[in-house]
Amino acid sequence: MQQYRTKLGLCATVAMLLLFFWSCNSRKTPTPYAISTPPGFVDMVIPADNPTTVEGIALGRQLFFDPILSLDSTISCGSCHRPELAFTDGMALSLGIRRRRGKRSAPSLLNIGFNYKEMFWDGRSPSLEDQALHPLQDPLEMGEDLGLLEERLRSNINYQAGFQAAFPDQEITIENTAKALAQFQRTLISADSKYDRVERGEEEFTTSEKRGWTIFFDAGYPDVPMAECNHCHMDPLFTNLDFANNGLDSSATLLDFPDPGLGGITKNKYDNGKFRVPTLRNIMLTDPFMHDGRMRKIEEVLAHYNSGGAYAENVDPNVRTLHLSDEDQADLLAFLHTLTDSTALTNPNFYPLPTKK
Ligand code: HEC
Ligand code: HEC
Repeated sequence: MQQYRTKLGLCATVAMLLLFFWSCNSRKTPTPYAISTPPGFVDMVIPADNPTTVEGIALGRQLFFDPILSLDSTISCGSCHRPELAFTDGMALSLGIRRRRGKRSAPSLLNIGFNYKEMFWDGRSPSLEDQALHPLQDPLEMGEDLGLLEERLRSNINYQAGFQAAFPDQEITIENTAKALAQFQRTLISADSKYDRVERGEEEFTTSEKRGWTIFFDAGYPDVPMAECNHCHMDPLFTNLDFANNGLDSSATLLDFPDPGLGGITKNKYDNGKFRVPTLRNIMLTDPFMHDGRMRKIEEVLAHYNSGGAYAENVDPNVRTLHLSDEDQADLLAFLHTLTDSTALTNPNFYPLPTKK
């Protein structure tokens, strides 16, 4: 009997211990967050070592809008990627700490999670997790020393609980900072433009929009010209995620582009003057246009493509003189307007959390 009781007691103790460990564990494990794929999109590629979690996204959101990440605590990621401007800054070239002028224009971050290829206009970063380390350290952007930043975050009481919840039992590190920023950015999905609603059969294009659609997609209707746009700005992302020279600068030898773009990274002269094909989703919100913001108005962009652009040996053959009439260009523009998703501008989850009073 005595023996039986000891056994029972032992079992109960073991069960209680198990329950205790389970409850500790379940309290600590971050809650998985499934990214939903809009109709027509291909599922996001999420790295195995950085699954999206509710806690990771919340931490990333806090970090994204916090100027603590820059050397003099004046600039946050959100200063140059403003949610109300589709995560751009409305400037040709961005301004970093101490009003230092950058070399390129800030791209929209909407749908950036679907870019499974390299990041930046010249593709110099392999992933979102790696990308964040660039602006943090760039002397023209946030000018930060990663070691100092790590210390600053560790000693900041606003971050201890957030990092613990997102990355339990780990120290506050730059690596986890970048992971959280990547998780937040993967939630910046925009797929509710008029174009999307027409695709889903909920709305219809006007005659002008429909004609612009035909021109954009080379749908081959009689009497409607083809503008070749969709070879590069392919739906649903309105980019094929590739690099191309769309004829902005002439270069007789391929060696005299003002900015070599992709070639500066690959060191292959045939890549000089090539840049990442940017998405055209929300394009009417992200002016000025091109990697250096050289075109202020969308009409300049259309005139550029209509002319066929400047000469260089590696200009893509799909950039050619188009002979679009004024009406064709107006219709093309009407179509580009349908790519604006105004719900992305008002999505409260894309803005900083309201501060507690
Ligand atoms: C000073 C302005 C500025 C700040 C601050 C800034 N960015 Fe950027 N961001 C840019 C510019 C400019 C580019 C394009 C640079 C290039 O391609 O050479 C860019 C590119 C990117 C890209 C690549 C987008 C693409 O389409 O390839 C991502 C992602 C990004 N930034 C996220 C962030 C995050 C996260 C932070 C904060 C850690 C941040 N940015 C801070 C201006 C800024
Ligand atoms: C050969 C591929 C290609 C074709 C064809 C093409 N584009 Fe582009 N487009 C690009 C590239 C690459 C860029 C970025 C170039 C740069 O900044 O150096 C770009 C930039 C743009 C931009 C500015 C985007 C921004 O965020 O600044 C707009 C708008 C645009 N294209 C519209 C069009 C339209 C409309 C057509 C059809 C008339 C078209 N494109 C045809 C490759 C192409």
